[in-house]
Amino acid sequence: MSLNSFGHLFRVTTWGESHGPALGATVDGCPPGVPIDEAMIQHWLDRRKPGQNKYTTQRREPDAVKILSGVFEGQTTGTPVQLMIENTDQRSKDYSEIMEKFRPGHADITYWQKYGIRDYRGGGRSSARETAARVAAGGLAREAIKALAPGVEIKGYMTQIGPYKIDNERFDDVQIGQNPFWCPDPQAATEWADYLDGLRKSGNSVGAVVEVVAKGVPAGLGAPVYGKIDTDLAAAMMSINAVKGVEIGEGMNAAALTGEDNADEIFMGNDGQPVFSSNHAGGILGGISTGQDLVVRFAVKPTSSILKTRQTITKSGEAAEIITKGRHDPCVGIRAVPVGEAMMACVILDHLLLHRGQIGENRGRIG
Ligand SMILES: Cc1cc2nc3c(=O)[nH]c(=O)nc-3n(C[C@H](O)[C@H](O)[C@H](O)COP(=O)(O)O)c2cc1C
Repeated sequence: MSLNSFGHLFRVTTWGESHGPALGATVDGCPPGVPIDEAMIQHWLDRRKPGQNKYTTQRREPDAVKILSGVFEGQTTGTPVQLMIENTDQRSKDYSEIMEKFRPGHADITYWQKYGIRDYRGGGRSSARETAARVAAGGLAREAIKALAPGVEIKGYMTQIGPYKIDNERFDDVQIGQNPFWCPDPQAATEWADYLDGLRKSGNSVGAVVEVVAKGVPAGLGAPVYGKIDTDLAAAMMSINAVKGVEIGEGMNAAALTGEDNADEIFMGNDGQPVFSSNHAGGILGGISTGQDLVVRFAVKPTSSILKTRQTITKSGEAAEIITKGRHDPCVGIRAVPVGEAMMACVILDHLLLHRGQIGENRGRIG
């Protein structure tokens, strides 16, 4: 039974734990001839790296990737690509508290109930260090996408931290890389900084909403009914640690709209391609991409390891109190942004390959 893999043709298997010697991804099904080297993957890993500012965990990991196989003379060979990242800043003593006790809101209790054995150091496999492997695989996916659909651009950003949302009127693409929060609204970024400073000092944490948009995705990716691209996107995003909700396009808000408001009207564009008046659909109709932006949003819960006293139980069932010391993100949504982008890249590449396998060029002509 393999439950550590995702993707159909671009198949990514992640392995490793927070406090083991290394973790990584084995990527099978990457087409041959994709130009790739460690620096190209490192670029994306550096965006997820911990310890970059005071709003993320102070664990200092270089997250340096090594390519162990599947690449020859700077190109993929079509054989499995093994990506490895060594763990260099583990401090097991920080985690002695959770050896016997279960952190409320974390996976300690369910891992113990299911497996009867758990690597309590840093949460073991449930640690979001695993997401470094996804980001590495996503870096490879991005390069492979360039060959198959050169216009695709994937970008993630935060739209909400705790109760504070961005104002879409102030949305400025250029701002996204200019603050520690991947925030497109400079005013919201200032509000978030003050809010998080207070939370961090009091040892508490908060949730967030991340939006990931893919532009330039060709029409025709995805298939009815179990191969819908929205199904795969939702599963990919939901598989990220701490994600508790996923929306495509209008998402939950679609329930509040009328059909007249929600259905994106279609016109014929000057270049002979259909254009839509709006994008409530998030770029997907019937599980198949429309050629509009793919828009996915996910909600991330507050970090459960906090410096507040919480009630719990021990492995032997005794009541206990717990305060989780150690180095934890006050808002894990921040570092989830590059992870969401990586999952988007992996799903798009997977569907480009599926589409090429079954259809090749789109067959339906308009006009
Ligand atoms: C980028 C990222 C970093 C995270 N860092 C922490 C952390 O420092 N401390 C913590 O308790 N949880 C952290 N989490 C969340 C846990 O990994 C997650 O809550 C846990 O595995 C339980 O899974 P669930 O929340 O999906 O049920 C992080 C999540 C992400 C996406």
